[in-house]
Amino acid sequence: MVIKRKSDREIEIMRSAGRIVAGALAMAREIAKENVSTEDLNTRLERYVLQKGGIPVFKGYRGYPKSICTSVNEEIVHGIPDQRKLRIGDILSVDIGVEFNKYVADAAITIPIGEISEEARSLLQVCEESLNKAIEKVSANNKLSEISRSIQEYVESKGLSVIRDYTGHGIGRQMHEDPQIPNFVSKELLRADEILLQGMALAIEPMICVGKYDTEVLKNKWTVVTKDRKLSAHFEHTVVVTENGAEILTI
Ligand code: MF3
Ligand code: CO
Repeated sequence: MVIKRKSDREIEIMRSAGRIVAGALAMAREIAKENVSTEDLNTRLERYVLQKGGIPVFKGYRGYPKSICTSVNEEIVHGIPDQRKLRIGDILSVDIGVEFNKYVADAAITIPIGEISEEARSLLQVCEESLNKAIEKVSANNKLSEISRSIQEYVESKGLSVIRDYTGHGIGRQMHEDPQIPNFVSKELLRADEILLQGMALAIEPMICVGKYDTEVLKNKWTVVTKDRKLSAHFEHTVVVTENGAEILTI
């Protein structure tokens, strides 16, 4: 495993990529309302990214057809925007990656559509908080597994489950670089644990659910859903490891 460390010059470029991602997600929060289709969101966010001089990196990645992922309710990740209209009570995960000047930033949020159930509200809150707590563990000389452990312990302490089939990742010139960042601790992770070093860039992305963590991919070959079709949420930030903490690039 080779975890590349970014120079100050590279980090500065990734900040620009991150700002475009953050702007796009802020726009998603504004426009994701009842009766808006996920395709509408894709169109608007794609236009925003291009106008800012960015490239939506998901489009064409392994044949992925759109610029963003929109995953509704039991959909965990990689939902494909289409004519489906959002409904009051839905939760919508929006995931977007942007390349700017050859470097990538990647982030996701889950948005409540109108009034949502108490179960959904608490799912979103725990997911976002698990990301914040994980970012607090990021600092030079801390271990990669501390990120995973912090997410798993917090989420499970709230009676929720952590998805195991998909992970966070290193990021830089490529959207996916070493290391993988699982949202749970395993023997494999501990065996291959890494010390975080200043300049490493990480996309940390807890995906959590109300029921069991088993997943299934729909017939479209992309959309990942919970097997039990219970609700799932996803929050993600791209961060860079600093001497005494983390800098979040996607805010
Ligand atoms: N944010 C996702 C990830 O980190 C990427 C979406 S996959 C794509 O894996 F195919 F849609 F690009
Ligand atoms: Co990602």
